Amino acid sequence: MSVVLVTGGSGTLGRAVVRGLVRAGHQVRLTSRSPRPAETDPGIDWHTVDYATGEGLDAACTGVDSIVHTATAVNRKRDVELTRTVVEAAVRARAPHLVYISIVGVDRIPFPYYRGKLEAETVVRESGLPWTILRTTQFHDLVLQVVSGLAVLPIMPVPSGIRVQPVEVTEVAERLITLATGRPAGNVPDLGGPETHLVADLARLYLRQQGKRRWLVPMRFPGKVFTTYRNGEHLAPEHADGTVTFAEFLAEETGKSQ
Ligand SMILES: NC(=O)c1ccc[n+]([C@@H]2O[C@H](COP(=O)([O-])OP(=O)(O)OC[C@H]3O[C@@H](n4cnc5c(N)ncnc54)[C@H](OP(=O)(O)O)[C@@H]3O)[C@@H](O)[C@H]2O)c1
Repeated sequence: MSVVLVTGGSGTLGRAVVRGLVRAGHQVRLTSRSPRPAETDPGIDWHTVDYATGEGLDAACTGVDSIVHTATAVNRKRDVELTRTVVEAAVRARAPHLVYISIVGVDRIPFPYYRGKLEAETVVRESGLPWTILRTTQFHDLVLQVVSGLAVLPIMPVPSGIRVQPVEVTEVAERLITLATGRPAGNVPDLGGPETHLVADLARLYLRQQGKRRWLVPMRFPGKVFTTYRNGEHLAPEHADGTVTFAEFLAEETGKSQ
């Protein structure tokens, strides 16, 4: 049994990591900016922290074997600072194994959030801590968020020529748990979803499944970021190791909301 801290344990990935760790019998701590909700599993040691000041982080890091760092801020600078704050607390806590989740293509796509992730990777590598970094493709949840967001209007703009390879978040969580409870491994092979599809095709699948009718308008977005996406720099076809497809994920989500 390991003692594992999950930063951002309330987030989409963090929740899946926490659930998987509890199921596997590990001792689980999480950090969140929010106070512990009443309905939290009593087996979870919840630490409310302020990532801006670092307050609460030392107590959260003390005595842990490893940290799975999933907390993230959308703002590039703040995201790097957040990772630096977690790293500094981990160093003070006598250097647990730090496992960082990153994104396929952060080194090739000039998107500000990705640039921040790349900087944060460097902070982890240069921390002096034992470390492991896993890059994955987009989670199904994010793709669903994008296509459902685009479907709010009767005319649905979809980026043309962009393919995605979404992966199931519980499979990412399982990989992270294996890494966090194993030896530090440095940069490990990417993890991608089982299938690659045009965003437009996944949007059609979503509409069919929701019984919605929309007029899909393919848009060729300009700029270097979209060019790199069209070139597939965010894909990992040689690591299509996830097993759950977007269609299966959607069916499961619809089942939950009925
Ligand atoms: N989503 C994807 O498709 C994808 C793909 C590959 C990698 N990743 C990486 O996986 C990690 C987790 O992603 P996720 O989709 O699970 O994210 P998420 O649902 O947004 O969760 C991130 C958590 O970070 C915490 N947080 C800390 N400081 C924050 C701030 N300043 N602003 C907003 N939230 C803050 C929040 O928890 P509290 O509010 O409780 O503090 C939040 O629940 C990220 O590092 C992301 O880059 C994501």
